[in-house]
Amino acid sequence: MKASFHPTTAPFIRLPEPEENLYSPLRDWLDREQSEAKAGSLRDVRRLLDQIRRYLGMDVAIVSEFVQNEQVFRLVEGDGASFGVHRGDGLELSETYCQRVMDGRLSEVVVDAKNDEQIRNLDATRAADIGSYVGIPLVMSDGTVYGMMCCLSHRADPSLAEVDIGVVKLLAQLISDQIERQQLESSNWQLRLEVVAVRALLAALEARDGYTGKHSEAVVKLSGSVAREMGLDDRSRIGVQQVAILHDVGKIGVADAILRKRGPLEPHEWVMMREHPVIGARIVERLHSLRHLSPAIRAEHERWDGNGYPDGLQEEDIPLPSRIVLACDAYHAMVSNRPYRAAIRESAALQELRFGAGSQFCPHVAEALLSVLGGQDLGGSELGT
Ligand SMILES: [Fe+2]
Repeated sequence: MKASFHPTTAPFIRLPEPEENLYSPLRDWLDREQSEAKAGSLRDVRRLLDQIRRYLGMDVAIVSEFVQNEQVFRLVEGDGASFGVHRGDGLELSETYCQRVMDGRLSEVVVDAKNDEQIRNLDATRAADIGSYVGIPLVMSDGTVYGMMCCLSHRADPSLAEVDIGVVKLLAQLISDQIERQQLESSNWQLRLEVVAVRALLAALEARDGYTGKHSEAVVKLSGSVAREMGLDDRSRIGVQQVAILHDVGKIGVADAILRKRGPLEPHEWVMMREHPVIGARIVERLHSLRHLSPAIRAEHERWDGNGYPDGLQEEDIPLPSRIVLACDAYHAMVSNRPYRAAIRESAALQELRFGAGSQFCPHVAEALLSVLGGQDLGGSELGT
């Protein structure tokens, strides 16, 4: 069940995009580093490919990637031009030799293409004047097929029948391994970039607002304990803690005059302060490895009874990490001194948690939090949904 939408974005507020400034120079630097590493690994693959071509004594060796219904030529070593094969070009997969090898309609070694029943009448055979062919699928460690390594010659070559295809397969496997390593490195670079960007954002936020940094740390610890208390598995618990780390990152987009104001906020200032989950979700949305957390960041101030913001989500419609972080965030805020009010006693904060269970807080989360905070007796009825 969803409550009605409560718009909180006043039309005069332009949501800033603060991550751009920090993100761009980091991206440039890491992109440069990454392209150097990539060039090194590309050289290795090209060398291997040329070794295969020479071993087989053929005119051209090609690494192709299967992309949807196409076979795209990624690397071409030797005389690709005389076959009309150019790096970056693609062919519709269904009629290629490689697709036929994949389907088992063509053998991996074709010594005389012009006299092979399967392919002698194909346009490709005539147009590219193909005499012989060797094709080995490039298989990744998880069994998925990246594409093909294939070699072509214009002349028929009966000696190919004597070639030890096991050696060719071994070299092709080295190419697959290298491609896989490169893909992995690419995603690691991306991850590294994002970790650096997030750290920079959090450090910038802490520099502006000393409370948020220390507060986030405490909320992360508490949220992890509550997740454990609720029996969440390791993966889900990490997700909860990631949301806790990032839950206030959107405050980077809140003006200093509001974020650092000493004293209570005016109603219009609260409106702007309440944009921070939306800004935070927008920031996280741009980080590939953290994108999945975006809905939970957006919902970190949603209340169990539907009276929260920005969307007025209710009960189980609110992602669990958001419900956990909300309760831990509220508890820690209550026992901390803020510019606009003094900390309250721990016993009073616990009372507030009990009181808010089933209205502000998810009752199951409140129960787990109270249990983490000292095995409180919850008195049953207060936690009823
Ligand atoms: Fe927040």
